[in-house]
Order: sequence, then structure tokens, then C-alpha cells
Amino acid sequence: MADMVVLVVAALFLAMGGSINAAVVEHTFLVSEVTLRHLCRDTVATVVNGQLPGPALEVTEGDSVVVHVVNQSPFGVTIHWHGVKQRLTCWADGAGMVTQCPIAPNTTFTYRFDVVGQEGTLWWHAHISTLRATMHGAIIIRPKSGSYPFPKPHQDVPIVIADFWQNDLRQVQKDLELWIADGDHSKDGPASATINGKIGDLYNCSGVAQDDTFVLDVEPGKTYMLRLANAALSNEYYFKVAGHRLTVVGSDANYLRPYNATGDVVAIAPGETLDVLMVADAPPCHSYYMVALGTQSPPPAPQTATRLARGIVRYPDSHGEAMEPQMPDQHDRTTSFHFHGNMTGYPNNPLLPQVRGHVHDKFFLTLGMGTIRNHTVHVANINNVSFHLPQGRSLLEARYHGAELVTATEEMSARPPLEFDYTDPVLINFFNRSAKLLELEPSRRATTMRHIAYNSTVEVVFQSTTLMEDSPNPMHLHGHDFFVLAQGIGNYDAARDTASYNLVDPPVKNTVMVTGLGWAAVRFVADNPGNWFLHCHYEFHMGMGMATVFEVGNGPTPETALPPPPADLPRCDRSIAYE
Ligand code: C2O
Repeated sequence: MADMVVLVVAALFLAMGGSINAAVVEHTFLVSEVTLRHLCRDTVATVVNGQLPGPALEVTEGDSVVVHVVNQSPFGVTIHWHGVKQRLTCWADGAGMVTQCPIAPNTTFTYRFDVVGQEGTLWWHAHISTLRATMHGAIIIRPKSGSYPFPKPHQDVPIVIADFWQNDLRQVQKDLELWIADGDHSKDGPASATINGKIGDLYNCSGVAQDDTFVLDVEPGKTYMLRLANAALSNEYYFKVAGHRLTVVGSDANYLRPYNATGDVVAIAPGETLDVLMVADAPPCHSYYMVALGTQSPPPAPQTATRLARGIVRYPDSHGEAMEPQMPDQHDRTTSFHFHGNMTGYPNNPLLPQVRGHVHDKFFLTLGMGTIRNHTVHVANINNVSFHLPQGRSLLEARYHGAELVTATEEMSARPPLEFDYTDPVLINFFNRSAKLLELEPSRRATTMRHIAYNSTVEVVFQSTTLMEDSPNPMHLHGHDFFVLAQGIGNYDAARDTASYNLVDPPVKNTVMVTGLGWAAVRFVADNPGNWFLHCHYEFHMGMGMATVFEVGNGPTPETALPPPPADLPRCDRSIAYE
């Protein structure tokens, strides 16, 4: 839109024996409230540069990024660059109250970071309160050499899947916390799913289909790189294009060994990105729907309205009704489980030898729901502790300045307080209040984190539980990519399941979909000092406490230690609304 300012300034860096071109990609993100008209109603939304989705950042691997955030909204905001490794730039990570306090209304903060050693697609989003619903956009990272491990695609096509809400999201979250008093949450869902901000031709009001559909015009025979990001608050999506094969070549800005998705359906969890090649080789007399269908757990989990958005792939000669793809069932978890299980990476990753070796820290983390205050307030938790953001000062600032926080932090436990049958279906239904559930679900709130020594190898096994629901959990770690070694259904059993670890060519991700009624095992090398958020990327799970923080220590040299904060880091002001 008009106020978007993009400057690309070439800078020349001299390296030993030659010169390397790296660019500075500079943007101004103006945050303000706008009125969006969808579904015959005006909705006020906080967006970047007047648009939804916000501007895409397009960079070449090795570039520096400078984004001036000018906050003209009434809320404190932060922006997180989801999946950018932020080596030694934890201050620019944008995790509200973890790495910084919010940028106050009518103030500015400039994020500065480099994009190094990652290629593909990532995305950015607000990381405070529920603002990410309307503040997000794609990050496209192209290889510096210009060559890909597959033939160069004709065109990049960002496809941001999200949902459009008409309710006050702060209120939705409060309602979820008081869930027990009122079991009906059908009204709490988004008004529609969206593809690139467009609600598609299935949603209409006043009887007229809205002319608000994402259309991709293709040239027959050309290859398109669909750069998918799931920015939705709470659903995994199945995505498919009628009449076309989809070949997956990357995820979370790491290349994958190319594979054809079974049934040409891809599954993408909130937080994840996928790079998918699509050859425009279908009969060109038709056009073809692309469909994004939200998944949900089957009953007895409470049901929401179906979330589905569609766009169109159009050929120059197409006419008539567009062809429709055959989608999986919205309750189908198996297709997603296998889709994710089919990912493999490349065996030449420089961190793999260390990941195969001695593991310094092992965590077994149960992900579930629970209650506090004698079963009256509903929370989400890890190992029965519901994460509580600190107030008044971010965790990273408290650490850097050696300062106390108002609420003390505590070390996150490496295991849950009780061992039990984590995937027992009897625990799902809160309303029948089985004695077993009432014994297992009680939680408490605390600001947990875990100290990790620099350069340790860390293993985390995530176990989804059936405590009060059997939802999957897309778990995301800031500041590092992890290797996804294995996943399984049921309860994790170290003696049996370590044998199934893929230590040869595991996929490298920043978000792992931990299936409902199952587990996933990851390892990473803690080579980046900072305070790094680890959380479920379902917005309400995160907001209700399914989170913790890895505090990675400094390395032994100045080059491996966290530098001082930028001079314009927002001052913490307790009067700003951020929760
Ligand atoms: Cu995309 Cu901490 O999140």
C-alpha cells in the first residue's frame, strides 16, 4: 500500500581475498487500526501498512534486515520474525515480555538482524496479546547463488493461510479460561478462513458471493513455488489444488528431499511454512480451486464450524466452473501424521555430527490442559505448569542487567510431576469429571525457564496428553532450528522409541506438529545465547500457558556472547496494555 517504504541499499563487504555482496533490506512498518469490510460488516483491525496480510519481506540469504516499526495503534506491539535464527541478536526476536517490552503507542523501534544460513520461506507476526491475527506476513529467502536443489521455479507465490475474526480476541481468550461455566464455544470461532487475506467465494452475505478471492494466473507448463505459511490462530490446515501434483521441497526455511504428498494434500500447522512446487500442467480449458480446510479433533472434543477458504488457479483459456479438489475429512489426523512423517532433510547438515553424539540435556514435556483455582479456571500447561509472562521487564533484560523480576522465575522441570497413561481417552471429556482426570489435571501458574549451557546438545520429547482435550500441539522454538528425529502414536517409551530416531537425514524445522494422542522427539544444539521462547503455536494454548523459555548461556568469547541491547529498545511501562 501507499505508505510502504522499501529501500534496498546495496552494501559492499570486503572479505579475505575478494568481495561479497550483501544487501540491506529496509522497511517501515506502520502499525495502525483500519476498518475492513468483509461479510457485510465493518471490522476494526490492527494491521501493518494498511494491509492484510502485511508486506512480504523478500531477502537473499546473507542480507541484513532493518525494519522501522512505527506504532500508531492504541496497543503495545512487538514483531517476531518467526524462524529467523537471530544469531547473537536475541534483542530483535520480538517475543513480548521474553526479549522486549512492547513498543508503546506513538513510539518507534527498529529491528535489525541478518538472515544467514537459511533459505526458503518464513513469516513474521506480532508477538504480544492476540494481535498476530491481523499483523503477519511472509518472509521469502532466496539463495545467494541463485541455484536451488531443484530446477529454478518460474515464480514465487506466497500463500498465507489465516482466519478472519470478528470477535474481540481478548474476550475470546477470557471466555476460554472460564470454559467450565459455559460449554458452548461455537460462537468463539473465526468468521472465516482466508487465503492471502481473502475470504473466498464460499462465504457470502446478502446472497451475493463476494468478489474477494485469491486468484493465481498461471502459464501452461511453468513451475510455481507455492510458499505456504499458516498464520491461523488455532487450526492446522489441509491444502490442495484440484488437478495438480504437489511436490514438497522445503519447510521452515530448510530444504527437504523432494517428495510427492500422498493424494497431493499437504498439511500445515500454525507456525509452519512449506515450499511446494506445482507444475501448471492441467488441461488449460479449466480453472481449478485451491482449498485450505481447517482440521479439528473428532468428538468428544467440542466442535467448531468448518473452516474452509478457497482460491483459484486460472489458465489463460479457462472457462466455466472451476474444478474442485477432493479434500480429506476435517477430523482426519492420519493424513497429517504421515505427511509430517514423510519429511527428510539432507545428511550434510553441519550440526548433525554433534546431534548424533552425546546429549547433555533431556526433557520430557507433557502438553495439555488443566485448571487452577479448584477447577474454575482453565489453563494450558507444560508438565502441569502454566507459563505466566513476567511483568514490568522482559526476561532477557532481567538477565542482562542481573535485575530481579516482580514475580520470581523458576526452573522448568525436566519431567512431568506424575507418570500416567498420557493418552488415555477417558481423560478427554472434562464434563464427566472422572476421578482420574480430577487427580491429574490440577496445574499452577509460574514463570518457568530452563538454563542451558552454551553449545549443549538438547533433546526434547513432546508428549501430547488427553487432559481435557486431545488436540495436537504445534510446538515452536525461537532462535534455533531443531532436528525432528521421530514421532509416534500413544505414549513415548524411551527404551523402545529411541531405536526409531532418524539420525541420518532428519528434517530441520522450527515448528513440530505433535500429533494429538502422540509424541515427537527433537534435538538441537544450543549455540545461540539468549532467552528463547518455546511454545505451542495455537494462539489460545500459548496465551493460556503452554510455553516456557530456554535461557541459553553465553559462550566463552566475546564473539559467542550476547551483545548489549540496542539503544532504542522500548522502555518497559507498566501502564501499557499487553495482556
Ligand atoms: Cu511464530 Cu513465538 O512464534
